[in-house]
This record gives sequence, structure tokens and C-alpha cells, in this order.
Amino acid sequence: MFAYSHNDYYCEQVALADLAHRVGTPAYVYSSAEILTNYRAYSDAFADLPHTICYAVKANSSLAILAMLAKAGAGFDIVSGGELYRVLAAGGDPSKVVFSGVGKTAAEVEYALTSGIRAFNCESEAELALIDAMAARLGKQASFSIRVNPDVDAATHPYISTGLSQHKFGIAIADAPAVYARARQFRHLVAEGVSCHIGSQILDLSPIQEAVDKVLALANTLRTEGHPIRHLDLGGGLGVPYRPGENAPAIADFVKGLRERVQASGLAVTIEPGRSIVGAAGILLTRVLYRKRNGEKEFMVVDAAMNDLIRPSLYRAHHEIVPLRRNPVPPVMVDVVGPVCETGDFLARDREMANAMPGDYLAVCTAGAYGFVQSSNYNSRPRAPEVLVEGDTWRVIRERESYSDLVRGELI
Ligand code: LLP
Repeated sequence: MFAYSHNDYYCEQVALADLAHRVGTPAYVYSSAEILTNYRAYSDAFADLPHTICYAVKANSSLAILAMLAKAGAGFDIVSGGELYRVLAAGGDPSKVVFSGVGKTAAEVEYALTSGIRAFNCESEAELALIDAMAARLGKQASFSIRVNPDVDAATHPYISTGLSQHKFGIAIADAPAVYARARQFRHLVAEGVSCHIGSQILDLSPIQEAVDKVLALANTLRTEGHPIRHLDLGGGLGVPYRPGENAPAIADFVKGLRERVQASGLAVTIEPGRSIVGAAGILLTRVLYRKRNGEKEFMVVDAAMNDLIRPSLYRAHHEIVPLRRNPVPPVMVDVVGPVCETGDFLARDREMANAMPGDYLAVCTAGAYGFVQSSNYNSRPRAPEVLVEGDTWRVIRERESYSDLVRGELI
């Protein structure tokens, strides 16, 4: 949904240079059509297999985006009380919410139980005990899955790989039957699922399929032991291509693979995709402030920085950077850097790209997932606004922060 028409870069039918001029930079811009297309690619591919698509709120938690997905029928995967608050504020259905995460607090568990979420993905026996005690106090039954760690190497960036036994996540799959057995003592818990999540930005389907087979085998064993297992939660979705020429499997093929494996079991499937729904649906608009040369190196200093998009600094992630107005000048080799006072503040290094000059606008592509949500006020930089495009119209869904927002809640 982002493309050039003649020499101007568009989001759907909105010319982004005009938008940048109106809202200023830096700014995040999202395509509603792209988000809905990706969501529907998941829901259509599941066809008649009972399923819930629990959008991973952490990828992009803006209320307008959550509201759009809720309206399309999505459930939500949350990892904090704050995310639950957002889902409810956006009109999400609590009975389609699963609560993941390794460190749920008592207050968060209480909030989730009183809100009537569907299930907890539990990561330790101590957590099971906490949920049981809280459910007893509130006079409720809580459904849970144990997040098992299948010891599968997801072959992604080490910071976002989660399925190996050395990682903090889940309970070793070999220990799971004993944990489910001991969980029977908890009278306010119902063991209705098994969950796993082996990592994010996965482009190779084989580790996912290996994990699914292991989890499915476990679910079958648990059922023969009398546990009321009804669903498998298979964790996050596909990765997305960030570089030109990089390929990701189609969502339809990914889901087809899952469906074929699970169908015969009669179990329902939950998945928690985030990146593949919103990643390609967002860009970060920025403007060139200066060009400078230090020795051999040429720098393009822009008004977006690591506080706006930390992925390049944190994971060495690649994001394409393209001009909003194409011109025929030959490309240059530059580092694209922001105003933050750190050498680690860059959006691109040694990148051959459009020869943009001060005042020119650029789009940092594929920034819809883990972009704004990981932004901060570092260097006391107000956070960027967010804009949602729908066809030929757009609206601000989060205002740019002001200086007074920066000090809100502070006391001298
Ligand atoms: N479910 C669980 C339990 C997760 O931990 C995650 C992501 C997801 C679902 C969603 O996965 P996805 O469909 O987006 O791959 N900040 C990093 C990504 C961290 C992902 C953490 N967990 C980045 O910028 O690449």
C-alpha cells in the first residue's frame, strides 16, 4: 500500500510529502488497508478450522489500530495490564484475550480475571499457584495453557529468539506432563490448552513446524491423561521482508502448514501474530536536517532518531529508506543518523541511497511493528505523532507530544 505514483511516494491514495508538510516530522504513518489485508490473510487461511487470531498488542498498541482489528473480529495477545487496558479502551472483546509473559504480577492477574479474559499462558508453577489463589479469592475458574519451551532453534536474532532451553521462557517440554499433573491440585484452574512461541521475525517455516509437531504430540499425551485440552496456542506469526529482494513465505502458506498438521487432532488453534500484520503497514517519516562529511564518511543528519525507532541501533535491523519525492540524481553512500548524542544513534549505516538534501523528506520503511511502541523520550525528545490513512483520507490517531507532556507527573 506504499508505492510511487510518478515520482511521489503514496500511502494508499495519500501523497506522503503533503502529509509530512501538514503534520510535521518525525511522524509514523500507517495504512489501514494493509493492516486489514494482513489480518484477513490469517483469518481466511484458517478457513473452517476453529481458531482465534490474537493480535500481539506489543507490536503496535495504538488504540485506533486495536479498534480496527477488534472490529474485524480479532482477539488479542497481551503481556501486561497496560496492554489489557488498551484492548478494553479500544473496544476489544476480553473473552478473546490471552495473557502471555514470564512475569505477571498479582495486580495484573487480578485485573485479567475480573475483566474475564479467555486464558493465561503460564510460564512457571509459581505463576499457576498465584493465578489459582487469585481465582479462588474472586470465586472464578481460570483457563490456562502452559507455555512449553520446545528447544527448537528459530534461527532469528538472538534477542528475539525464545524457544531454546537456555532462554528464560516457558517450561521445558519434557517437564510439562508432570507440571500439568501437579496443576490438577489447583481447584480454580482449568488446563485447556498448550502454548509455545519460539521467536519473532522467523522467515523459515521448518523450525515452526518442528515446534508445532512437538506441541501437538504433547497435547495428545495430555488428553489421554485426562486433561481437558481444547486448544493449541502456537505463538507469534511470520516475519516480514525488510530488505529489497528478501522473501517471506505467504501468510496463507504458513497457516496452511499449521492447519494441515493440527486438523486431524480436533484441537482449536490460537495464533498471536504481530509483526506480519502491522510491520509493512507503517513507515516513519523524517526530514533531512543537514549533510556533513567527517573524513571519509558522509552523513545525512535527519530529524528522526534512535528514540523514535530503536530497531537499527538495538538489533542492527535493516529498514529501507526512500525519498518521498524521487529525483534522477545518482545515489550516494551515507550513514543516516539522528540528533541523539550517541554514536549508536543511526537509522542506516554505509547505505547506498537517494541523494537527499536538507529539507527533503524520507520514509523509513517497514516500521509499523515494534517502531512507535519502542520509542522513548531519550534526550527529552517528544514522541512522534501517529497517522492512519484510509483510502484518500488520513487522521492523526496520536498527537505529537509537547514539551509539557515531557514533564507531566514530575515534581520538583
Ligand atoms: N507472542 C508472544 C508470546 C511473543 O513474545 C511475541 C513477540 C509475539 C507473540 C508476536 O510475535 P510476531 O508475530 O510479532 O513475530 N522488538 C523486537 C520483537 C520482539 C518480539 C517479542 N515477542 C523487534 O523489534 O524485532
